[in-house]
Amino acid sequence: MGYMDSTGGRPGQGPDRVVYLDHAATTPLLPEAISAMTEELGQLGNPSSLHNAGRRARRVVEESREQIAEVFGARPSEVIFTGGGTEADNLAVKGLYWARQGGRQGGPGKRRQVLTTPVEHHAVLDSVHWLTEHEAAQQTLLPVDPAGTLRPAALAEAIEASPGSVALVTVMWANNEVGTVQPIAELAGIAREHGIPFHTDAVQAAGQLPVSFAASGADALTVTAHKFGGPVGAGALLLARGVQPVPVLHGGGQESEVRSGTLDAPAIRAFAVAAAVMAERREEEAIRLAGLRDDLIAQVLAAVPDAILNGPPAGPNRLPGNVHFSFPGCEGDALLMLLDAKGIACSTGSACTAGVAQPSHVLLAMGADEARARGSLRFSLGHTTTQEDVDALGAAIGEAVQRARRANR
Ligand SMILES: Cc1ncc(COP(=O)(O)O)c(C=O)c1O
Repeated sequence: MGYMDSTGGRPGQGPDRVVYLDHAATTPLLPEAISAMTEELGQLGNPSSLHNAGRRARRVVEESREQIAEVFGARPSEVIFTGGGTEADNLAVKGLYWARQGGRQGGPGKRRQVLTTPVEHHAVLDSVHWLTEHEAAQQTLLPVDPAGTLRPAALAEAIEASPGSVALVTVMWANNEVGTVQPIAELAGIAREHGIPFHTDAVQAAGQLPVSFAASGADALTVTAHKFGGPVGAGALLLARGVQPVPVLHGGGQESEVRSGTLDAPAIRAFAVAAAVMAERREEEAIRLAGLRDDLIAQVLAAVPDAILNGPPAGPNRLPGNVHFSFPGCEGDALLMLLDAKGIACSTGSACTAGVAQPSHVLLAMGADEARARGSLRFSLGHTTTQEDVDALGAAIGEAVQRARRANR
């Protein structure tokens, strides 16, 4: 295992071990990715330079591009490297919107609607919102059911209600808070029938589900390395042939004139190595994690019988590594700190919104009231998670909930 806690111990070992149940925020680097990255950090060369050192770095980038393309069912030419998921989402949403207006010079065209869901990650939601404030876009948040799922019929109805006015559709493959898996191929098929570009944020799906860009039918797909054992700050937007977003970052035009910036060969290499290792183990690992997930759900319900599982029931429509509960009568933040004091790390929602005292927009969109949304915690499992971790939470959660309830009275 590559993860070190603050005391220098490793999870699962020794008295200081951290029970890390926050893999959806970021998962420990795989040892293979650390080795690849460390080796590459000692090398010289900008992949755009023409000399020998530059050509060597370019080879590393192109071999990595091929590996990543293979893992995610894409062609190498469809992989645009970015500095992570947030950048890829911004490029997809803003860039495709602008492209549909005929470029930024074109001014607002007829196609101003962006169809999305209210449960997207903020990297998508805030990009869409920015377009409404600065570029005369209109956002339509398609309603989701209580499990967080978008019905394909709801997308079809929205498109048919305003023919010719939709710039793009963006729907996440799997939700980062409650683990809902969307029917992506069906949704992409509907957008395609109407000739509308379809983007999906597959950041959470990429390490846990079989993600094939080609089979999904999407025009653009976001992945980021740090959710499956690669480094933070390395991601990609997969772009189908002929799909050309207007760039968000301008400069050297390194990535097919769509994204500028010197390519980070060490991070890209580690991204590719992590993707390849993940792909090799994914199927077996998904079965292992689903088993641990189901046991964790059972242990929490045994200790806190009135806890409410948010999102879809444990099964194929839920990410294998996701558990999300509301604990009536508790503040999620207080409960998180009580568990943290016992060495158990979890989250009140996405890491990006944690710390801000707001109920989760995802739970509210799924119909939860504010109290239920505030009293919720996400436990997310990953490659270092063991049965011991699950048992540690099972042993601690009952008392922590009682204490959080007393504090809340
Ligand atoms: C669904 C989803 N999209 C996008 C992101 C942002 O990715 P990054 O951290 O690489 O910017 C995250 C990270 O939490 C995420 O969970």
